[in-house]
Amino acid sequence: MESQPVLKAEAISKVYGTKKNLLYTALDGIDLQVGKGEFVGIMGPSGSGKTSLLNILATIDKPTSGRVEINGTQPTALREKELALFRRRELGFIFQDFNLLDTLSVRDNILLPLVLEKMHPAELEQRLAQSAGLLKITELLDKRTYEISGGQKQRTAIARAMIHRPSILLADELTGSLDSKAAKDVMEALEQLNTELGATILMVTHDPFAASYCRRIIFIRDGRLFSEIRRGANQNSFFQEILDMLSVLGGSFNDISQARH
Ligand SMILES: Nc1ncnc2c1ncn2[C@@H]1O[C@H](COP(=O)(O)OP(=O)(O)OP(=O)(O)O)[C@@H](O)[C@H]1O
Ligand SMILES: [Mg+2]
Repeated sequence: MESQPVLKAEAISKVYGTKKNLLYTALDGIDLQVGKGEFVGIMGPSGSGKTSLLNILATIDKPTSGRVEINGTQPTALREKELALFRRRELGFIFQDFNLLDTLSVRDNILLPLVLEKMHPAELEQRLAQSAGLLKITELLDKRTYEISGGQKQRTAIARAMIHRPSILLADELTGSLDSKAAKDVMEALEQLNTELGATILMVTHDPFAASYCRRIIFIRDGRLFSEIRRGANQNSFFQEILDMLSVLGGSFNDISQARH
């Protein structure tokens, strides 16, 4: 079932100027739609343009040409102040290195995005309890972030990204700094948010296991769409399909250290 698009990208191109004054085309005419409640992964060899694309969709960078629409708004048409507000309200970001504030508790890190919103305390507590429960961090709320593990940090960061109920969650290599057990916990938590809260998720990943939690995966190569696969009922066979597609794509995938752009 195709739902209404939360995110629409048309003919996205990105040309970078390099040090030697040469132009480099990192993205070349990408079309992409993400429907409400979808859980989509973006994969591709190192240097294929994944981070460039995500940064454009996240309104962190602007395309050289093409058009992005999120919930009916074109971010490039907004003034700086409006764009900041748009980002804060509509988008949720999850980073590879968590970006938590060490001086704050887990609870305060999660609530931070709402400091500027005038929300009723009861509503705030209800949202916090719901997210913390789904992400299995309820017991950790009063701890400082240096007292918790990497996987717990990333689940805290996900709760923070979700607390304002964004239209879409965007993540670049969110399991890139985690061991496999922590990565599994994080992906299971993300899947819960998708199924229980209907969260719309778009994530870039090198990791086929993390990707196997997505419902649809878009593969890019040399800045162009290469193919797309959808998950059936079985996660294991989807994982196999992903591995097969990666071997067809070529390039380097397995070296996660190359993912730290
Ligand atoms: N600011 C920039 N200036 C010039 N070239 C850039 C810039 N950012 C990225 N590139 C180039 O664009 C291409 C795509 O980079 P991008 O970071 O999007 O790839 P990626 O798919 O995320 O790779 P990885 O899997 O290694 O993270 C690369 O060749 C990269 O060197
Ligand atoms: Mg990248």
